[in-house]
Amino acid sequence: MTHRILFVCLGNICRSPAAEGAFRARAPHFATDSAGTSGWHIGDPPYGPMQAAARARGIPLDDLRARQFIAEDFHRFDTIIGMDTSNVADIEDLRPEGSDTPVHLLTDFAPHTGADHVPDPYYTRDFDGVLDLIETAVEGLHRHLSA
Ligand code: 4NP
Repeated sequence: MTHRILFVCLGNICRSPAAEGAFRARAPHFATDSAGTSGWHIGDPPYGPMQAAARARGIPLDDLRARQFIAEDFHRFDTIIGMDTSNVADIEDLRPEGSDTPVHLLTDFAPHTGADHVPDPYYTRDFDGVLDLIETAVEGLHRHLSA
């Protein structure tokens, strides 16, 4: 069966849509989605500067729209990937009883970078730096899921 992967960040307009876009560009045969732990940007497209930086490296994000992470996502996806430890804690707070769906940090799949989270470019403004890390990590995630 097609493996279903959900990428999660806080706003669902910077890091998780970028991770989804980078992953689906590399592995279009997987089913992907992204969501935010907050409801702040529901219905919004990815943040303009993130879209532009991603588009410049061949990763289109324009079709994506923000939504909020919900408990039901534990049943709808096979793997859930958070961008930082607060995302993972907020995700785990909604885990339904009996669900064993794995939740990982994206940076778990890029151990050689030394990064322990994906910094939020909404605050750092380093869209290209974060895309470098995301592209490296989704390559590792794809390798992990294909092994
Ligand atoms: P994201 O970044 O979690 O990578 O989508 C953010 C975008 C917007 C806000 C926070 C984080 N915000 O406060 O609106």
